[in-house]
Amino acid sequence: MSGLKASAIREILKVTEMPEVISFAGGLPAPELFPVEDFARACQEVLAEDGPAAMQYSVTEGYLPLRRWVAANLLETIHLRCDADDVLIISGSQQGLDLIGKVLLDPGDYVVLENPAYLGAIQAFDAYQARYLNVATDDDGIRTDDLARVLAQAPQRPKLLYLVPNFQNPSGITLSLSRRQEVIAICDRFGVPIFEDDPYGRLRYSGEHLPSLAALAEGRNSIYMSTVSKTIAPGMRVAWLVIQDRGLYERVVPAKQAADLHTSSFTQRAVYAYARRPGVLDAHVKQMLPVYARRRDVMLKALGDLMPDGCTWTHPDGGLFLWARMPERVDTQELLSMATTSKVAFVPGAPFWVNRDVRNTMRLNFSNASEEMIVEGVRRLGDLVEGYLARAR
Ligand SMILES: Cc1ncc(COP(=O)(O)O)c(C=O)c1O
Repeated sequence: MSGLKASAIREILKVTEMPEVISFAGGLPAPELFPVEDFARACQEVLAEDGPAAMQYSVTEGYLPLRRWVAANLLETIHLRCDADDVLIISGSQQGLDLIGKVLLDPGDYVVLENPAYLGAIQAFDAYQARYLNVATDDDGIRTDDLARVLAQAPQRPKLLYLVPNFQNPSGITLSLSRRQEVIAICDRFGVPIFEDDPYGRLRYSGEHLPSLAALAEGRNSIYMSTVSKTIAPGMRVAWLVIQDRGLYERVVPAKQAADLHTSSFTQRAVYAYARRPGVLDAHVKQMLPVYARRRDVMLKALGDLMPDGCTWTHPDGGLFLWARMPERVDTQELLSMATTSKVAFVPGAPFWVNRDVRNTMRLNFSNASEEMIVEGVRRLGDLVEGYLARAR
């Protein structure tokens, strides 16, 4: 554990807690969109219908009606065919990253990551002393030519390829359909399981939904994970792993049991009581989409209008983030330390790069601030970068 570094995100939260700061740093959904009333009704139903059971200890695998709902919902939304028996309810996707790390990784084992990669995954795998092989990405996601090269040259067979194929955190980029098929074929060839983390798949604002890798691979050699954090609310801490390899599933269950016995009986039932009402979750997601789409568009336009020459950024089709690249000489970590006076926060990109070797990128969240705040925040950011460049000249 002494190898674990203090979380960069936690450091950033210190800045965002200062008054008057406009924050693009967190990954927070918009709290005004949380379905508070419908969820209150669901909680009352749980207590009225099966109060004592909802307050009792329960099985590690999760509440069976919720697992059945997850299986049916995955078939409907991403065409992934699985049984309730393949579904393990977990306490947030973050727990899934830890559990898969705990079960699959011995010290020194290799994990293949897209570069840049989700910081929370790097932190989870770091705790098991993983080593990383990083694969280059472009506007279509992980580059399959580089993946094939990295796997062919790997010093030993990697235990996992971990990726976020839809509206990736941090880049906002989506893996194209042809690449998805190529990734599956390459991983099949090299015998490397795919761990697909999909918290954002339902938050698509433009373009067509793409099939999940797990669905394309028909569950073979794959682990799929999703969560209610971005569709209902992150405070629920309810998510799921889908593991069709029985042997692996049976190893992950005791790992979870050792960690927390089970995910909250009450919350699982409340999520189920909320989601079982036909159309309620779909209607909720449908009303979130235009709000987030507008915020994304407002941020893209403000960046175009207000950022200095030489800055570029991604144009995500969904999710919560976009990824900006400053001129080469900007160090965004240093920029953030100056941001306390400009009162705008962002996440410096370096910790998302597997070797921390790229200094001039940043992650910007567009879901949490209002449209007016987004424009004002980007104005502050533009001024900040301009001031930095003037000084660095
Ligand atoms: C790619 C990815 N995986 C996992 C998580 C953690 O999600 P959860 O709230 O389900 O733990 C996040 C949260 O931002 C994420 O972006």
